[in-house]
Amino acid sequence: MRGHHHHHVLVILLLPLLAAVLRLAGGSPPPQPVKCNRGDTTDCEVTNVYGSFPDRTICRAANATFPRTEQELVAAVAAASAARTKVKAATRHSHSFPKLACPGGRDGTIISTRFLNRTVAVDAGTRRITVESGMVLRDLIRAAAAAGLALPHSPYWYGLTIGGLLATGAHGSSLWGKGGAVHEYVVGLRIVTPAPASQGFAVVRELVDGDPDLDAAKVSLGVLGVISQVTLQLQPQFKRSVKFTTRDDTDFAEKIGVWGGLHEFGDMAWLPSQRKVIYREDDRVNVSTPGNGLNDYLGFRAQPTLGLITARAAEERLERNGSTDTARCVAARLPPALFELQGYGFTNDGVFFTGWPVKIFLTPGTCIASPEDGLLSSCTWDPRIRGPFIYNLGFSIALSKAPAFVADMMRLRDLNPKSFCDLDAKLGILMRFVKASSAYLGKPEDCVDFDVTYYRSYTDGEPRPHSDVFDELEQMALNKYGAIPHFGKNRNFAFDGAVRKYPKSGEFIKVKDRFDPDGIFSSEWSDQVLGIRGNPNIVGNRCAIEGLCVCSDDSHCAPELGYFCRPGKLFKEARVCSNSKSSVDSDDLLIDEL
Ligand SMILES: Cc1cc2nc3c(=O)[nH]c(=O)nc-3n(C[C@H](O)[C@H](O)[C@H](O)COP(=O)(O)OP(=O)(O)OC[C@H]3O[C@@H](n4cnc5c(N)ncnc54)[C@H](O)[C@@H]3O)c2cc1C
Ligand SMILES: *[C@@H]1O[C@H](CO)[C@@H](O)[C@H](O)[C@H]1NC(C)=O
Ligand SMILES: *[C@@H]1O[C@H](CO)[C@@H](O)[C@H](O)[C@H]1NC(C)=O
Ligand SMILES: *[C@@H]1O[C@H](CO)[C@@H](O)[C@H](O)[C@H]1NC(C)=O
Ligand SMILES: *[C@@H]1O[C@H](CO)[C@@H](O)[C@H](O)[C@H]1NC(C)=O
Repeated sequence: MRGHHHHHVLVILLLPLLAAVLRLAGGSPPPQPVKCNRGDTTDCEVTNVYGSFPDRTICRAANATFPRTEQELVAAVAAASAARTKVKAATRHSHSFPKLACPGGRDGTIISTRFLNRTVAVDAGTRRITVESGMVLRDLIRAAAAAGLALPHSPYWYGLTIGGLLATGAHGSSLWGKGGAVHEYVVGLRIVTPAPASQGFAVVRELVDGDPDLDAAKVSLGVLGVISQVTLQLQPQFKRSVKFTTRDDTDFAEKIGVWGGLHEFGDMAWLPSQRKVIYREDDRVNVSTPGNGLNDYLGFRAQPTLGLITARAAEERLERNGSTDTARCVAARLPPALFELQGYGFTNDGVFFTGWPVKIFLTPGTCIASPEDGLLSSCTWDPRIRGPFIYNLGFSIALSKAPAFVADMMRLRDLNPKSFCDLDAKLGILMRFVKASSAYLGKPEDCVDFDVTYYRSYTDGEPRPHSDVFDELEQMALNKYGAIPHFGKNRNFAFDGAVRKYPKSGEFIKVKDRFDPDGIFSSEWSDQVLGIRGNPNIVGNRCAIEGLCVCSDDSHCAPELGYFCRPGKLFKEARVCSNSKSSVDSDDLLIDEL
């Protein structure tokens, strides 16, 4: 009977991935993050692309404007500045998990960069491109390519806007040259900030290479004003040769110290319960190298909505307390196996995957670019369907400390390997390399970014099996290894004290006080993250279950369901919500049968 049940789960999890193989032509782009109830521009609600901030609330704003030119943008900032209303830039989709998109209070103004998405200038001689800040990465990469140029590094998903991704310090993976963060390639920008009445309440500041204020504006959390245009230093167009190899994880801790030096765009992904590491060998090759591959990453393709809903339902059954670790671990083997089988969505010729290496140009993300099909298919995170729903942690650890952190992480895994199966199901922990930056809120030293994705319940305060282990892992990273949280990811508690990890945060605050003395671009959230006012934790019943606090009392967990605030198993300083029963696993034998 059990065997039959497992089989059923396997088939269900397979569905959406099978459909991915068939390659749908359609795919509804995600909905707008800003919805206004009156006349499309007043009485607005603000959320992110997942339709859910970490505290599960929705923000409000009095009104929204949609400037189409820099002049209109200046007028919008001037109006907010004159009225001293809180204001915030919003993008086409707002992909950041934390509450970055919310203006302060409830009566603020949203300035959307949705229609600021043109190319301003391309200079093939100096290899520079200037674009408006609302342009999505896909269009930017294409505009550059049309002039024979390439943005050398970018996040792995092309639906982000240049203004939004810079604000959170977004990156790809590289320790070579200036490294994998996009802001390293910014050589100038135009930013609209508040100004005194004598200057019309708003001014355009042009920041050029060498201006120390550019080190504030490159990674700004959106609190300095609205960036109007960005100028990037590009490189001659090149291709990349990509190959994935999977090896066992016995030398994982050593490899993390050297892999970033071996391949220009290398990354690694750890499948903890399978004890494997997937190494991405990714190097620049001459543009004339034969091969016209495509990276249409499976995770960023439009998926049939029905399949997503079915997969989520299966996952919810597995996460429920009656389900066994073994069932979860069996199911967790499938996604990595299927992704590997399909070359992760890479094709050698734009259609078929025939083997490594694949020669490619572009960053993937076709689910935002597919024609509207009435929600028959969608991006996997579309909030209009009850599909996959996740937490996404992103934290960076100094390269010099990464091997020790990995060794600790493996020790934690060895204490109960099955507790890590959920990570395998989400294709493991992705590790990327980012170089030290001169940006005040950039990485203070060369580091490894750990990206962790796992199940999030749709129900507020519902405990998940083994969440204690993931929380311990995160607290160990943040507190023992001084990890820095990605501004566009994570849950509230990760940001507690985070600003102290940036030696130049004081310089940043000075620029903020100069550009926006009244703090109209600052919100409760940005003040908490920057350590200006308040604390990002929201303490209350079950706050630790939701990642809104670190527990210090059983009520922060779910004592009535058997979850109590306890020390970590390996990192004893951690405080996590442990289920007294969770270490007992009655069906250890079964996994060997399968
Ligand atoms: C599927 C997916 C994949 C991702 N992959 C990666 C990855 O590979 N690497 C990585 O580092 N991150 C990644 N991220 C995180 C992502 O890079 C950040 O969340 C990014 O900031 C989102 O960009 P956005 O355009 O959606 O901006 P938003 O989330 O809308 O905005 C972020 C902040 O920027 C401000 N802002 C936006 N535009 C402007 C402007 N013109 N002027 C001033 N302030 C502005 C906003 O007010 C807000 O405070 C990923 C996210 C998703 C959903
Ligand atoms: C938006 O609302 C603010 C605060 O209520 C107000 O001061 C401002 O004039 C409004 N702007 C627009 C464009 O309606
Ligand atoms: C700008 O966005 C619009 C949709 O809002 C799109 O049709 C257009 O192609 C984009 N422009 C560029 C240059 O990418
Ligand atoms: C790429 O190859 C072409 C043709 O072989 C050659 O002329 C060119 O110099 C090469 N470019 C680089 C950057 O190596
Ligand atoms: C376990 O499931 C039962 C019913 O299925 C539910 O009443 C109970 O609250 C759940 N306990 C936990 C810890 O989730």
